[in-house]
Amino acid sequence: MAVRRARAAAKPTLPIADFLVIGSGVAGLRAAIGLSRAGRVLILTKGSPAEGSSIYAQGGVAVASEEDDIALHRDDTLRAGKGLCREAAVQVLVEEGPARIQELIGWGACFDKAGEGYAFAREAAHSRDRIMRAGGDATGTEMVRALLGQARSLPQIAWRDHHFTVDLLKDGEGRCNGALVLDESSGAVRQVKARAVVLSTGGAGQTYARTTNPSVATGDGVAMAYRAGAIVEDMEFVQFHPTALYLPATPQFLLSEAMRGEGGILRNIAGEAFMKRYHEMAEMAPRDIVSRAIWNEMVATSARHVYLDVTHLNPGFIRERFPTIYATCLRYDVDITEEMIPVCPSAHFMMGGAWTDTYGATSVPGLFAAGEVACSGVHGANRLASNSLLEGLVFGARAAEAAADYAIRLGPSRNGAAARKAATSMLPAEERSDQLDMEKLRNSLRRLMWAKVGIIRNREGLQSAIAQLEKWEERLKGRCQTRRELEIQNMVTVGRLVAMAALQRAHSLGAHFRSDFPEELSGWDRHIQLSASASDAKRVV
Ligand code: FAD
Ligand code: SIN
Repeated sequence: MAVRRARAAAKPTLPIADFLVIGSGVAGLRAAIGLSRAGRVLILTKGSPAEGSSIYAQGGVAVASEEDDIALHRDDTLRAGKGLCREAAVQVLVEEGPARIQELIGWGACFDKAGEGYAFAREAAHSRDRIMRAGGDATGTEMVRALLGQARSLPQIAWRDHHFTVDLLKDGEGRCNGALVLDESSGAVRQVKARAVVLSTGGAGQTYARTTNPSVATGDGVAMAYRAGAIVEDMEFVQFHPTALYLPATPQFLLSEAMRGEGGILRNIAGEAFMKRYHEMAEMAPRDIVSRAIWNEMVATSARHVYLDVTHLNPGFIRERFPTIYATCLRYDVDITEEMIPVCPSAHFMMGGAWTDTYGATSVPGLFAAGEVACSGVHGANRLASNSLLEGLVFGARAAEAAADYAIRLGPSRNGAAARKAATSMLPAEERSDQLDMEKLRNSLRRLMWAKVGIIRNREGLQSAIAQLEKWEERLKGRCQTRRELEIQNMVTVGRLVAMAALQRAHSLGAHFRSDFPEELSGWDRHIQLSASASDAKRVV
């Protein structure tokens, strides 16, 4: 075993903290704000401070605006989840959501108005207009702006960006008590101890060749929770958004569902509007149905995309309602007021993740999770549009409450200067004779997941994917040192977990579609749980 020296002098030690929050999207920021009432909080984020899915959220946030709509919001969420949601978690989401939004408005968030009141739009599978938005199609940016402002005003919250969390730490009694952290600029590695840890690292869309997710969405949180022995659940449920911009050599970019909500029509390359052939709600059918319909049309017409057509809408309305989408497409030479937009489905959201109770507690004491990294039970087999920003706020706040209570139960702090271990060196790397081209592996992984663990799956494809993923996992063991390498390792682990759960669920349900078992089995409302602590035991609960 060779241990490389740190590339540069170690930076000053990290601040002492009672609570670590890993990730600074909506979930992490909301958790940190809550925890600041209970002690010193350290937010650790890889890359730049605001980078994450949250700032790219376009369509909006689902908020029941009136008392009777709370019940309807619950029913819509349960219906989309196809019997796999945990009802108690859904109830928490819809009941506490409005208060969390009100709180955010109090912290300065500006949502779009219609006359005196707020504007509410409709998205697929919602029975009411209940989507609040900001800046037309820039909802996430505004929510993060307000949360950042609030978090930065609180002296109890310290912050380190460009700090990549490698793994979670546990004490002798199996309690999570900190994290192993890589300073991206110096390469130094530190153990950072805390009384409780909130994991809010977002999703894993980068595991797929086509994704709407930003580059940080590499599934680190799920992989490290799994390595720490936490139960991960519902990993087979990956939501594919129907409409991401499809232009060769152009970054993948989301075209919000709200465009269909405002009257956008999907057409195949022959110009035919096809959605009525697939579902009575046509363009407003649930996301999984729209994605699979597009996939079928692409196969039937031997095309790599279909079109989203908004050219029949008023150009002024389009520019005002979707300013970011309009400007971005124009930058890529598509004037959406005049031309149809080439689109293709892309990996968008992980319904599965680290299992949590309704207070964000994972199966590892001291470890809490909120936001996309968690499987709180609110999404089931298919997430209702615009429910995840809300989930981040509601369960971020709850995880903070529960982590604070946990720290009290733990007794007086045992963390002092000794807990803040000085930077030592780079991560140890085994000397290996075989060369491994990491970028090639990353590319192959993303293609493999897209082809065999993507929108349409079957037993043969899943088995061969698992065999390949296991080989890669073995080859990567002990050789990853940089952030990029560690991310690739995490993506391989997450890929394997998705493929294993997808193989085990031998029927179709919501976002999980098996061409060898196309029927949706009603009554099969059990969850697939995977855990490394039980040597990859698979549990069905
Ligand atoms: P994120 O916002 O992704 O934040 C994760 C954080 O963790 C980042 O700060 C990241 O740097 C950090 N991190 C990750 N790994 C590590 C590590 N190893 N060490 C340290 N830090 C780490 N949902 C809606 O409800 N409405 C919408 O309109 C909507 N639109 C969307 C549009 C797009 C393009 C995308 C991609 C998603 C959209 N979603 C939407 C989904 C929603 O945005 C996300 O599910 C949600 O924002 C996730 O929030 P989060 O706090 O869990 O994670
Ligand atoms: C969108 O705007 O289409 C994305 C909404 C979501 O993912 O909830």
